[in-house]
Amino acid sequence: MDESEKSSSQEYLSNAPSAMSLGEGLSALRAMRHSLRIDDAIPDKVKSWSSTLEAIENRLIQLERQNHDLICLTDQLTESNALLLDLKYQADQAEAKAIACDSGKTQFLARISHEIRSPLSVILGYADQILEDSVTLQQSRHIAGHIRQTGDFVLDVINEVLDLSKIEAGAFTLSAHETPLIPLIREVFDLFEHAAFKRGIGFELKVSYPLPETIFVDGHRLKQVLVNLCSNALKFTEKGKVSLTCWYENNHIKFEVQDTGIGMTETQLSKIFKPFTQAEDTISSRFGGTGLGLCIAYEIVEQMGGKLTVESTMGKGSCFAVDLSLAGQSYKLVEQVVHSNSILRSTEEVQQLSGKVVVAEDTKDLQMIIGAVLKKAGLDVTLVNNGQQALDAYKEGDYDLVILDIEMPVMDGLTAMKAIKSLQQENGLRPVPVLALTAHAFKDEVVRLGREGFNDVIIKPFKRQLLLESLAGWLGNDGKLH
Ligand SMILES: Nc1ncnc2c1ncn2[C@@H]1O[C@H](COP(=O)(O)OP(=O)(O)OP(=O)(O)O)[C@@H](O)[C@H]1O
Ligand SMILES: [Mg+2]
Repeated sequence: MDESEKSSSQEYLSNAPSAMSLGEGLSALRAMRHSLRIDDAIPDKVKSWSSTLEAIENRLIQLERQNHDLICLTDQLTESNALLLDLKYQADQAEAKAIACDSGKTQFLARISHEIRSPLSVILGYADQILEDSVTLQQSRHIAGHIRQTGDFVLDVINEVLDLSKIEAGAFTLSAHETPLIPLIREVFDLFEHAAFKRGIGFELKVSYPLPETIFVDGHRLKQVLVNLCSNALKFTEKGKVSLTCWYENNHIKFEVQDTGIGMTETQLSKIFKPFTQAEDTISSRFGGTGLGLCIAYEIVEQMGGKLTVESTMGKGSCFAVDLSLAGQSYKLVEQVVHSNSILRSTEEVQQLSGKVVVAEDTKDLQMIIGAVLKKAGLDVTLVNNGQQALDAYKEGDYDLVILDIEMPVMDGLTAMKAIKSLQQENGLRPVPVLALTAHAFKDEVVRLGREGFNDVIIKPFKRQLLLESLAGWLGNDGKLH
């Protein structure tokens, strides 16, 4: 290569692509080839460079296409990658959910098994007792009562599981009909009044009138919701009180169940309406339960077109509210309805009585309940286990009233009553009323006891208020009623 060739090639090479992009390199090559072509004076060697350059140019064009394809491919890959990541995230989520659900179901099965096995062993144990031990008729009645109660509990658990399976299968339906509202509330209240009292927890019923006399609703399911809320409120309240409130407002009927119990945190609140869940894993062992009640209650209220909501403060208490719309219903608003034996009043309105009462009852639980009711009403109470002890107590103390269970060991109530009455007559003592306490609810038995000489008959199980009303009447005869 002579000097002139060298300088022109150097000139071209200085324009050649170096660290350029493919596009830039291509343009530079085209410019070089163009300048080579227009200069006819250039030697053949340089012309052969031109064809080499053309080959390079074609290669570059190819490379540029491949590069473009690669860029497209990279874009597609990035997109697929994002899609894959998203799918992986969803799969992870689904897996976590499946694991949670599975472990939830496993825990649930363990809990259900416990919830059913424990009462079943109680039932079997009681049954064995009746079969193997020599028990009196009265004892077997007492045991049968326990069996009945425990059996009802098992039935509740099974019903909850069935309800849940219906909900999960989308086959849970309601059947609405005209339902008297006030008796429904009263029934719910009556169910828990004793239990609350026994545990030393106040249980208040607050009903604001006017209220619709009847509402068009599935009464059985509405009762189930309120029963679950009240049972939870009592279960999770160690001290203080629980109140069931009902009022009517702008075509809506509202219920609130408020307690002063353990309360819940925000996190706990977020899961309590889900099936198989309890606020904490320790709840089941501490308080029992399957963790289904609220989930079912929520579904029922939703299906009624209403809302079930909750507010709670850890350590202070919770308030569950049910709001049902009565839109489209025709109903009559009524003021307080007074039924002879089911007047709505709260436990705080218990009458205050005074007087000295002896109560003979051999069933310890019942003895304790009666004692507590009477003491709370202000009475001076002596509790004894049989008729003989009642008679002895009567001889010793100046009692205003005697309450005698009928079937008792040592001396039954009838014999004790007769002995007390003859003491009164023989010694000219003031006539102290003697009331019978019986589980026989048949009218004939009540009439028979009256004929035998009892002043009044209280039928077990008795409503606290009715018992107090009856006592108030007898103590009032002596001018002792406040
Ligand atoms: N009033 C309340 N105070 C505090 N915690 C509550 C209250 N009500 C419900 N919870 C929490 O919500 C959980 C779920 O209640 P839910 O009624 O569904 O189940 P459960 O009472 O445990 O069992 P069951 O199925 O027998 O009703 C309870 O286990 C408890 O942790
Ligand atoms: Mg519950």
